[in-house]
Amino acid sequence: MKRVLLGLLALVLVGSLWGPGRTQPRDNVDTFMRAKLLHSQKVLEGLTVEDFGMIAKHSQEMSLLSQAAAWNVLQTPEYAQHSGEFRRSADALTKAALAKNLDGAALAYVDVTLKCVNCHRYVRSVRMAQAEPPASIRLGARALPAGHLTSEVSP
Ligand code: HEC
Repeated sequence: MKRVLLGLLALVLVGSLWGPGRTQPRDNVDTFMRAKLLHSQKVLEGLTVEDFGMIAKHSQEMSLLSQAAAWNVLQTPEYAQHSGEFRRSADALTKAALAKNLDGAALAYVDVTLKCVNCHRYVRSVRMAQAEPPASIRLGARALPAGHLTSEVSP
């Protein structure tokens, strides 16, 4: 019984990371998205050893990633806004690193991290809304427009 409960808990936790709706081919998106995590970890490393070059290099990489086509998983004004805010935070981090301002860079890193969390929360909420509801309650419900996800329309 305990094991079943633990298993259920694990499922809920895994499910809550991204929620339902992971149906598209995802390999390239996953690799691309995970690069953000690697760069943010490198920034943290740079902060701890006070290596400003390392911080600036990886915050710039994060900013560049956010300008790539693959970044635009959703095409909504909100997603564009989250992307813009993320980029501005990453650029502020680069600036602080180039100015060799350790406190400023540490604060900017926290700010970047908040932007990661905010955008992910937004993406999850959209995914939840897109999850197929049962036919009985689908009637009359307003679905999001088809092709809302670029990864659904691209080959
Ligand atoms: C503007 C929105 C946005 C921002 C900002 C953002 N992400 Fe993401 N992230 C996404 C989307 C969209 C996905 C893909 C989700 C999906 O398709 O299921 C994703 C996926 C990921 C994944 C892969 C998760 C998985 O399912 O394997 C990781 C890891 C990740 N992001 C880390 C980060 C980190 C770290 C940051 C900040 C440095 C960040 N993200 C900032 C939108 C964003």
